[in-house]
Amino acid sequence: MKALCCFLFISIISLNNAFATAITRRRLGPEPVDNVFEIRVDVRLHFPNFRLKKAYYALQEWKKVITSDPKGMTKNWDGIEVCSYNGVFCAKAPDAPNLSTVAVVDLNHGDIEGKLPPHLGLISDLSAFHINSNRFCGTIPNTFSRLTILNEFDISNNQFDGPFPNVVLDMPKLKYLDIRYNKFQGLLPPQLFDKDLDAIFLNHNRFSSTIPENIGNSKASVIVFADNEFKGHIPKSIGQMPNLDEIIFANNQLSGCLPEELGLLHSTKVLDLSNNNFVGPIPRGIGNLKCIEMVDVAQNELIGTVVDVICTLPKLLNFTFSDNYFDRLEGKCEKPMRPELVFDYRRNCLRGKPDQKDEGKCLPVVNRQIDCESLRSVLDTNRRKPPKTKTRPTSVHGSITISFRH
Ligand SMILES: *[C@@H]1O[C@H](CO)[C@@H](O)[C@H](O)[C@H]1NC(C)=O
Ligand SMILES: *[C@@H]1O[C@H](CO)[C@@H](O)[C@H](O)[C@H]1NC(C)=O
Repeated sequence: MKALCCFLFISIISLNNAFATAITRRRLGPEPVDNVFEIRVDVRLHFPNFRLKKAYYALQEWKKVITSDPKGMTKNWDGIEVCSYNGVFCAKAPDAPNLSTVAVVDLNHGDIEGKLPPHLGLISDLSAFHINSNRFCGTIPNTFSRLTILNEFDISNNQFDGPFPNVVLDMPKLKYLDIRYNKFQGLLPPQLFDKDLDAIFLNHNRFSSTIPENIGNSKASVIVFADNEFKGHIPKSIGQMPNLDEIIFANNQLSGCLPEELGLLHSTKVLDLSNNNFVGPIPRGIGNLKCIEMVDVAQNELIGTVVDVICTLPKLLNFTFSDNYFDRLEGKCEKPMRPELVFDYRRNCLRGKPDQKDEGKCLPVVNRQIDCESLRSVLDTNRRKPPKTKTRPTSVHGSITISFRH
């Protein structure tokens, strides 16, 4: 039912009789249905410029598909003074300094229920679109590819669903992508990591693909995969990410050995690999991460020795390796060198330490022979077989350059 409601409104034409009007209609080529729509234009309204006029009609269409607005965020969305609407901010158009245009939409924490109509693609000078912590549902219209200078796209903490919103790949200036806390599912497109993004928040969705092999192409400083259903191993290309400050893989179903290439993340401060199915030893290379402050490998099936080179890293504050099968600590890992440094070694197989797993649980795992390379090639083979990655549909730019005729 929900999916149905989200598509039907698209063909609805606003037949408000108060609008004595000319209908503007344009239908271009074989396009998805959500790019075909009509807007009735009130000839009596006069706008300072065409861009504000487009924004006015887009926001009015949006208001129509808002079904609940408990805080009255959109209450004053009436009349032609678009720039005075709550949550709508105007600025000089970057390409036409004489023109005032809508630059930011910010309805964060509105608790608003509704959808995003394709008409929003008409607000083509947007540099930031923030609607976090609302109850918007459905999908992101393809017409959002018209937001050609959009820098920040934050739709986190809503109820969007369906596959990854590929339309964000068509936003040429996008830097900040935040789609966390929604219900997106399925595969992550590799193109995401070829885009020049600075921050990628994907956590708390239902993504279930592998981590694309080209992750190393990303120049992002923050990437958060946490709390999804990602599978497979961490690609070796991860070592090519010179700007990476923080990467969080926590709470997924990732497996295989941790790649030695993690030791190449020379500027990384936070590395969280916790609660996955990783096996094998902890890569010695992590001892090269001179900037690292926090390493969390808890809740995996890691084995072997926790080595001094990691425990003595100069910036380290918190090294959590609880709930694994480590059976030996080197001397400097026994006791933190600095008072502010935290080591959490609980529930491992460290004989003589408090709060460890019992021997029956430890023995079969601690002595398991792990060949990381062959494990990787097995996972690679699985990766190449199903699920067949659907190639991305050719980019569909929403044709919404409607002309207003009076
Ligand atoms: C901008 O406004 C100034 C002053 O009104 C005018 O001289 C100029 O031609 C305008 N520029 C454009 C690009 O419209
Ligand atoms: C250390 O990190 C763990 C795991 O992220 C966290 O649960 C814990 O609170 C941290 N400890 C301190 C003292 O910051």
